[in-house]
Amino acid sequence: MKLRNKRALVTGGSDGIGLAIAEAFLREGADMLIVGRDAGKLEAARDKLTATGPVGTVETLSADLAVSPGIDAVVEHVKAAGQRLDILVNNAGVAYLVPFETVSETQFQHSFALNVTAAFFLTQGLLQHFGAGASVINISSYFANKMIPKRPSSLYSLSKGALNSLTKSLAFELGPRGIRVNAIAPGTVDTAMRRKTVDNLPAEAQAELKAYVDRSYPLGRIGRPDDLSGIAVYLASDEAAWTSGGIFAIDGGYTAG
Ligand SMILES: NC(=O)c1ccc[n+]([C@@H]2O[C@H](COP(=O)([O-])OP(=O)(O)OC[C@H]3O[C@@H](n4cnc5c(N)ncnc54)[C@H](OP(=O)(O)O)[C@@H]3O)[C@@H](O)[C@H]2O)c1
Repeated sequence: MKLRNKRALVTGGSDGIGLAIAEAFLREGADMLIVGRDAGKLEAARDKLTATGPVGTVETLSADLAVSPGIDAVVEHVKAAGQRLDILVNNAGVAYLVPFETVSETQFQHSFALNVTAAFFLTQGLLQHFGAGASVINISSYFANKMIPKRPSSLYSLSKGALNSLTKSLAFELGPRGIRVNAIAPGTVDTAMRRKTVDNLPAEAQAELKAYVDRSYPLGRIGRPDDLSGIAVYLASDEAAWTSGGIFAIDGGYTAG
């Protein structure tokens, strides 16, 4: 097991990509803390995570990371546990795929609060709890650099671009303390987030998007949440001891084109 004796925190670990990463970490022997807002979803996730047999422990914490009291609550929780933290996955995020001219200030603030500010201040707040060789993994997106026709992404792309900059600057700044910082940039993954943005489109636009995806993904399909698990386990593990500041495209080949 690659993560035995490691303690990991995954934000947004109750669903989608975060839940798949939590599942993989647990399989590799890590003790888990998963954070999300909805306590019911967290409980369901814990049941799913612990259903498969003897693994590490699973703790849940309900907190809204888009507001500073939520970030503070997570930091306090880790502090109260009095144990070092080895892995932080800044995964919780929101995607407003709306035309530039309609982006509201509320959407802008919310997007930055969750996609950027939470990653920034959660990492900062947890710094003193990181053990030697700690690994921070930010979940970015291909949208930071590559757009999709008719999927207006100015706000989302901006927030993920900022997260990529944070990844590189922190890798540089925290490296001397033995803390590694990397990002995973997934392609389109079939999760509640994706379904929410696609289901809102008119039928014709959905068909057009499907045709675009079918011809744009060299491996012939969009991702499943567990397509991101392998790279997350690697980046979290000691096998990646000399890997920092990387932004890893895991996207079925989409951004190769
Ligand atoms: N799906 C894709 O196609 C795709 C592609 C590239 C990158 N990504 C990125 O991957 C990450 C995960 O996306 P996903 O598709 O797995 O999303 P998802 O299925 O919608 O899951 C989001 C998770 O984040 C939690 N969350 C949402 N808002 C939160 C908040 N304010 N505070 C704390 N937790 C919150 C949710 O739980 P609650 O709702 O209970 O809070 C849930 O556990 C995001 O950063 C996203 O930008 C996704």
